Amino acid sequence: MTNTVVKIEMSGNRYNAWDFEGNKLTSDISTSTRKSAFEAGMALEKREGKGGRTYWWKVPMSEFEATAAPVIDLSGIDVPEDHAEMLNFIHSSYKLKPVGLVMKELKWKYLVRGAVRGKNILMTGPAGCGKTMAAKSVVNALDRPDFYFNLGATQDPRSTLIGNTHFDKKKGTYFSESLFVTAIKTPNAVILLDELSRAHPDAWNILMTVLDAGQRYLRLDEADGSETVPVAEGVTFVATANIGNEYTSTRVMDKALMDRFTIVEMDVLNDEEEYGLLTYMFPHVDPELLKSVSEIANSTRVESRNDSGRVSSGISTRTSVEMAGLMYDGFGLDEAAEVTVYPQYSEDGGMESERTYIKQLVQKFISDGSSDDLFNENEIENANGETS
Ligand SMILES: Nc1ncnc2c1ncn2[C@@H]1O[C@H](COP(=O)(O)OP(=O)(O)O)[C@@H](O)[C@H]1O
Ligand SMILES: [Mg+2]
Repeated sequence: MTNTVVKIEMSGNRYNAWDFEGNKLTSDISTSTRKSAFEAGMALEKREGKGGRTYWWKVPMSEFEATAAPVIDLSGIDVPEDHAEMLNFIHSSYKLKPVGLVMKELKWKYLVRGAVRGKNILMTGPAGCGKTMAAKSVVNALDRPDFYFNLGATQDPRSTLIGNTHFDKKKGTYFSESLFVTAIKTPNAVILLDELSRAHPDAWNILMTVLDAGQRYLRLDEADGSETVPVAEGVTFVATANIGNEYTSTRVMDKALMDRFTIVEMDVLNDEEEYGLLTYMFPHVDPELLKSVSEIANSTRVESRNDSGRVSSGISTRTSVEMAGLMYDGFGLDEAAEVTVYPQYSEDGGMESERTYIKQLVQKFISDGSSDDLFNENEIENANGETS
């Protein structure tokens, strides 16, 4: 429904009325009305009064400009009514990202966009790179009912995702539905499926129909024709999966399940980003120490990406944050590394082991930091001798 709004232009001593399409409507409007609108710098809108009588009412010039909005043919494109609002939300959403979460603007906006568009989102990346943190942050940013399930921690997917059958002397056999069933019945819910990659394969099977855009239902029982629960309108799933270099050998998620998701890959931080994060989180810790932590972590990441590298995985941001936390509590770099980093690396292979490599790397930073001595081979040997 478009209403007629005209703009008055003066030509000679006449006040002409034009609509946006260039139709001249001067003769429909009395001279005094046109003159007064022109003088007030306002547009005129055609309105209908009691008994069908039409009259022209002064409205702000913006009303005239609004009728000038280009008409785009949207047939065939799935554009929601409040598309403008959605666009605005997505593109101004970076301010909703917590300062303490390091994530590039494009990735964050892509994540928010997927969520408001009702996509199933899968955050991927190696362990400890911020997947859970990002997923929780986007859930918080959305102001919608939210539910959290850690699928990596469930031993019994059936009871977590579907529910349990109980027996009671009075009531007989009855079914109590899981929180997950409540979640999928909640319109516009955002459902976090954390550690989906570590879930039991039964969980993946149960989720197949739930996550399929063409099905979107949960079957309460294995049997064909058994009761199903439809996924409510507007429900969004945000899952996380540890998928990084070091995970290629372990159980990889089913391809069919992966296909049901829009993948948002979390970037692993570089040394600058990590240093920025650590100084933001621990402003009272010696920045030189934090610099060492971020450089050590970064070196291991670079090394792990190298085919002939000495380590198979890099130190995660989670571990860097833990190390910085220990330093905040008065532990030294060597001590922090000994309790948080070394246990993650295998000792197999002795001097050629991953652990030896990491120890040498850390030792280099300790030497650099604590004295003017130049790092030399002897020192490494000694360092190794002490701890292994
Ligand atoms: N990109 C990041 N930005 C900020 N903090 C991070 C980031 N990645 C990891 N961390 C830190 O590491 C911790 C673990 O992150 P988490 O989201 O649980 O990792 P993931 O789910 O990928 O294993 C967080 O609590 C945070 O302190
Ligand atoms: Mg996680």
